[in-house]
Amino acid sequence: MKLPVALIAAALLATAGAAQAQFRTPQDAVDYRQGAFNVMGHHFARVGAMANGRVPFDAAVLQQNMAIIMTVSRLPWAGFTPDTQGLTSKAKPVVWTERARFDAAAQDAARSLTALNAAAMTNNLDAVRRAFGETAASCKACHDNFRD
Ligand code: HEC
Repeated sequence: MKLPVALIAAALLATAGAAQAQFRTPQDAVDYRQGAFNVMGHHFARVGAMANGRVPFDAAVLQQNMAIIMTVSRLPWAGFTPDTQGLTSKAKPVVWTERARFDAAAQDAARSLTALNAAAMTNNLDAVRRAFGETAASCKACHDNFRD
């Protein structure tokens, strides 16, 4: 069977559109980014508990948590749309006046998360502990500048 080219093109466009995240209202964008941060923070805390020895090391559980974090950590950034500036949130106005610095901080965190994810695959708790500390520092670096 020959698939209609227009249908395939439409499907590809729909996939690209989903990654770009469009929001019905500015408040939806705020809810979306805060929801993503909260889910990420939840799983990051579970990884931290393991890295810091508060819960027993379990590589499978660690890797499950990291898989969620690696996906969800890509999401919040699309929710920082310019039309959300006036709404109540913890985002400082400097997010929009210094957007390049904000995006660079997000890239830093993404890089350290990639390293943490790689460490989680090695089953080496020391490597996980180190990479967790570096990642937490990259989260904090952005929070110090851009979050109330
Ligand atoms: C590039 C900047 C940036 C990076 C990197 C970043 N955050 Fe945030 N984070 C923010 C901002 C801004 C908010 C507030 C968002 C809002 O209120 O709309 C936030 C909110 C949160 C929240 C919601 C609860 C709260 O106190 O506001 C959690 C949880 C959170 N971040 C965890 C993390 C973790 C964990 C990392 C690292 C893996 C991280 N963040 C990395 C900027 C960042």
